Amino acid sequence: RIVPVIMAGGKGTRLWPLSRATAPKQFIQLIGDKTLFQNTLARVADPDRYEAPVIVTNEEFRFLVAEQAREMGVKLAAVILEPMARNTAPAVAAAAAAVAGLFDDDAIIQILASDHEIVADATYLDCIRIARDTAAAGKLVTFGITPAHAETGYGYIESGDPLPTGAHAVKRFVEKPNKEKAEEMLAAGGYLWNSGMFMFSLPQLTKEFQAYAPAVMEAATLAVEKAVRDLDFTRLDHDAFAASPDISIDYAIMEKTRNAAVVPSPIVWSDLGSWDSVWKLGKNDEDGNVVEGNVTVLNTRNSLVMSHHGHLAVQGMDNIAVIASEDAVYVGRLDEAQEVGRLVKHLAARS
Ligand code: GDD
Ligand code: MG
Repeated sequence: RIVPVIMAGGKGTRLWPLSRATAPKQFIQLIGDKTLFQNTLARVADPDRYEAPVIVTNEEFRFLVAEQAREMGVKLAAVILEPMARNTAPAVAAAAAAVAGLFDDDAIIQILASDHEIVADATYLDCIRIARDTAAAGKLVTFGITPAHAETGYGYIESGDPLPTGAHAVKRFVEKPNKEKAEEMLAAGGYLWNSGMFMFSLPQLTKEFQAYAPAVMEAATLAVEKAVRDLDFTRLDHDAFAASPDISIDYAIMEKTRNAAVVPSPIVWSDLGSWDSVWKLGKNDEDGNVVEGNVTVLNTRNSLVMSHHGHLAVQGMDNIAVIASEDAVYVGRLDEAQEVGRLVKHLAARS
């Protein structure tokens, strides 16, 4: 059985003002009646395929994690708490160190992001099976999504020769290219988007960390050794974890390894990272608008209009996001949606 490791410590700043420091996007009901974190739990709930999940998150979100898992009736194997955000490489390394004490030495781990909308149909399960077999053969497995446009917020995977399991070797992994580079790769063909989900065997992952990010592995391992356990929580040692470089798994390992593989995955997948992706995923009316809540739109096209508080009316607009939360309103062009994180930094500096 696969050990699911869910990364749920991101800040989700580009979805301000619905995603907030105290309750980032993975923990809010963005679409539908469950949170993205709960949907992620549901994808690994089958006891024939999966062990109980391991969650890696920030100290601040421990009650959100515990409460939302309880609501789903899910028993967690462990909740690993980071004293500060150090990005996904240390999060994965800490999970690997903790998994070593909980499961078999040669466990297969699936790393899952908690900000994705995925349809877990038969095609998806096929991809998971191929990925598991490929990981068991010592590969670091990615899931490749057919790119739809020159997105700069994703990793790009150049697919190489086929492997016996049905996966492909990876020729090159390029994390978050600039626009020019992204357009180049799209035009060249043969590239897939990195889904942000991974499958590794524990011994191989440990080897790769030792080769390419030894400082991360050392800090994470020490932080787990010196961790304090209370209830289901594993509190990583503050000083040990603070010593880790701040880096994502994509830059730390995936761009560097020679053992990467990709499973071409024709699945329904969306990273709900920014307002334009929420707009793309929503049900457009004939004017291309996606609306939610108590909203009126007139003479408006290709826009996302959401109100979680009060009546919101929008008139004469095109390509715009208007998001009203309980206590804040955001108005911006949809094609600037990647920049909301910058705006939020600005707000934080002001307050
Ligand atoms: N525990 C923990 N700690 N989790 C974190 C941290 C952290 O410091 N930072 C981020 N996460 C979680 C987020 O909550 C999310 O579920 C997941 O890790 C991925 O982080 P993102 O910050 O959303 O990454 P990204 O979207 O910019 O890029 C990744 O995903 C893309 C696809 O969605 C990369 O893997 C790209 O290559 C990929 O294309
Ligand atoms: Mg993301």
